[in-house]
Amino acid sequence: MSLADVLRRRRMTRRFAGAVSVDWIVEQCDVARRAPSAGYAQGTHFLILGGERLARFWETSGAGEWFAQRQPGVLDASAVVLVLADRTAYEARYSQADKAGHGLEQASGWSVPYWLTDAAMAAQNLLLLVEEARLGALYFGLFVEPRRTLASLGVPDHVDCVGAVAIGERHADDRPSGSGARLARRPLVEVTHLGSWGRGSNS
Ligand SMILES: Cc1cc2nc3c(=O)[nH]c(=O)nc-3n(C[C@H](O)[C@H](O)[C@H](O)COP(=O)(O)O)c2cc1C
Repeated sequence: MSLADVLRRRRMTRRFAGAVSVDWIVEQCDVARRAPSAGYAQGTHFLILGGERLARFWETSGAGEWFAQRQPGVLDASAVVLVLADRTAYEARYSQADKAGHGLEQASGWSVPYWLTDAAMAAQNLLLLVEEARLGALYFGLFVEPRRTLASLGVPDHVDCVGAVAIGERHADDRPSGSGARLARRPLVEVTHLGSWGRGSNS
């Protein structure tokens, strides 16, 4: 599959059949972390949960109950990878001689928090690698007291979670679902702007 084919094929899986090993997922994280990284600060981390730890995560995060009521097939995923962003790696890197002096030594000085940007790029890499392997993944947010969930896993306060990636075999009966299946893709002309805002690529 070409990269463009992988991108076109990729969609969220919400019905898994299980059976992807944690070792394989660790290997994919190694590739996924070859994402761009501001200042090469490399503050992206992957916390991989399988087995008993995964069962506890579903419970603590509230995500288990949420999916059980809406898309129970998500709970058959083999593992969940929390994609984490350590802002202190960026503060430290942008305090070094070649980067200092731009007001980025403290996280509050950043108009775009690049640690989140970098982690999101790595997360997309992971989604694409899973798709390339013809497996399934679902990216979802931790929205019920995320800090409590992270603390239960020993994640320090200065580390944020940009999202969780559930991974498993895509169930043969999995069908496009969620908002992506209900809403039409916006026309290209609406989201591409040539030269200035409002001038679409084919206007
Ligand atoms: C930041 C973010 C948060 C998301 N949160 C959820 C979620 O909590 N539950 C869910 O089922 N899908 C979630 N999604 C998946 C989107 O609904 C999905 O990407 C979108 O509808 C497009 O569908 P597709 O990815 O299958 O093409 C999330 C996606 C992103 C990027």
